Amino acid sequence: MWKARLSELEFDERELSEVLDTLHSAWITAGPRTQAFEKAFAELIGTAEAVAVSNGTAALFLALKALGVGPGDEVLCPSMTFVATAAAVMHCGATPVLVDICSLENPTMDPEDAAAKITSRTKGLLPVHYAGIPADMDRLCALAKGNGLFLVEDAAHAPGAMFRGQACGSLGDAGCFSFFGNKNITTAEGGMITTNDPELARRLRLLRSHGMTVTSWDREKGRPAQYDVLEFGFNFRFDDIRAALGLVQLAKLPLFNQKRADLVRHYNERFAETKLGVILPLASLPESKQPSYHIYPVVFDSATERDSIAELLKQDGIQTSIHYPPIHHFSAFQAAFPHVDLPVTEAFAARELTLPLYPSLEEGRVDTIVSSVLYSYTTLKRLYEGEGLSRHHSS
Ligand SMILES: Cc1ncc(COP(=O)(O)O)c(C=O)c1O
Repeated sequence: MWKARLSELEFDERELSEVLDTLHSAWITAGPRTQAFEKAFAELIGTAEAVAVSNGTAALFLALKALGVGPGDEVLCPSMTFVATAAAVMHCGATPVLVDICSLENPTMDPEDAAAKITSRTKGLLPVHYAGIPADMDRLCALAKGNGLFLVEDAAHAPGAMFRGQACGSLGDAGCFSFFGNKNITTAEGGMITTNDPELARRLRLLRSHGMTVTSWDREKGRPAQYDVLEFGFNFRFDDIRAALGLVQLAKLPLFNQKRADLVRHYNERFAETKLGVILPLASLPESKQPSYHIYPVVFDSATERDSIAELLKQDGIQTSIHYPPIHHFSAFQAAFPHVDLPVTEAFAARELTLPLYPSLEEGRVDTIVSSVLYSYTTLKRLYEGEGLSRHHSS
């Protein structure tokens, strides 16, 4: 149906062969491959520890839980994110306090708005590296430090992204990654928590497997079968089949991210040539930020323009998406946030459109997509002029 999908799986014979080897190995749950994946991931991020879990949502929830977030606490996070960020806070019994984004060019958590929202109940900050663009970590880390708060990075979009030469996921108390099917590297479902704090890592390992002192792999290796349960935990375990996928994907990550970077440059150049004047968050980054180019967001002039262009692109076989409908618009969250005032988030959410981006996307396809946007835009403009409508009437 689609000529260009938003994202594509990037597997070859190596993933197939490693998964088959795992199936033949007689050990499929968390074991040697999971340990190897954790070690390789910690090396990539430059943290002492990496703890693999069942998905990115579990990573966020477990990190907050292990940091002691509970009822009565507040955690500052953006509304411009996937629902999992705020849901993880809610599942701890705490309240997510929604923070605006900096600007349409920089859709990451605004440190100034965050500072204004700190109360005596605030426990920590949970910024998101939106699209793999590092958040303003100098100011956010200083804010956390100055107020005795923890900082957890939602780095679901950001494996390989760097801030001042340091990897996202190593800048706060913990970093949470997702390996869902549309992410920069995938294990179908999967997640990882990175940290430099050995005590936090110990608690995370306990909590991901029922608080048990012994794992199945320990017993397989001949360690004593008796175990204690040190605290009430969960089953958020990873497994060796997915670790086999993850190890191959991780080895490909530098090349994947380089290809994404090249395609983003191509998109940016083509859009500059169209003179459409759209806002391209990935085109105006300071030197301190080296993104992982997870998605390609474009900000149009108005919601009407964005929606109409999305519809016309669909007719051309080009899949698009919106990242994101903000958290406070969802029915389940509205009761918790009756008086939200996030003007930049509102504007971004109304006008943003995500275009296809994945490593094997061809430059020629990018040309076609940008031409299709230009053609849609021109068609709309003619329509507006014909009907005497203003382009800005519903932004
Ligand atoms: C910003 C963000 N946070 C958290 C998640 C949750 O990850 P998962 O889908 O692996 O639970 C995602 C992924 O979908 C995400 O995009």
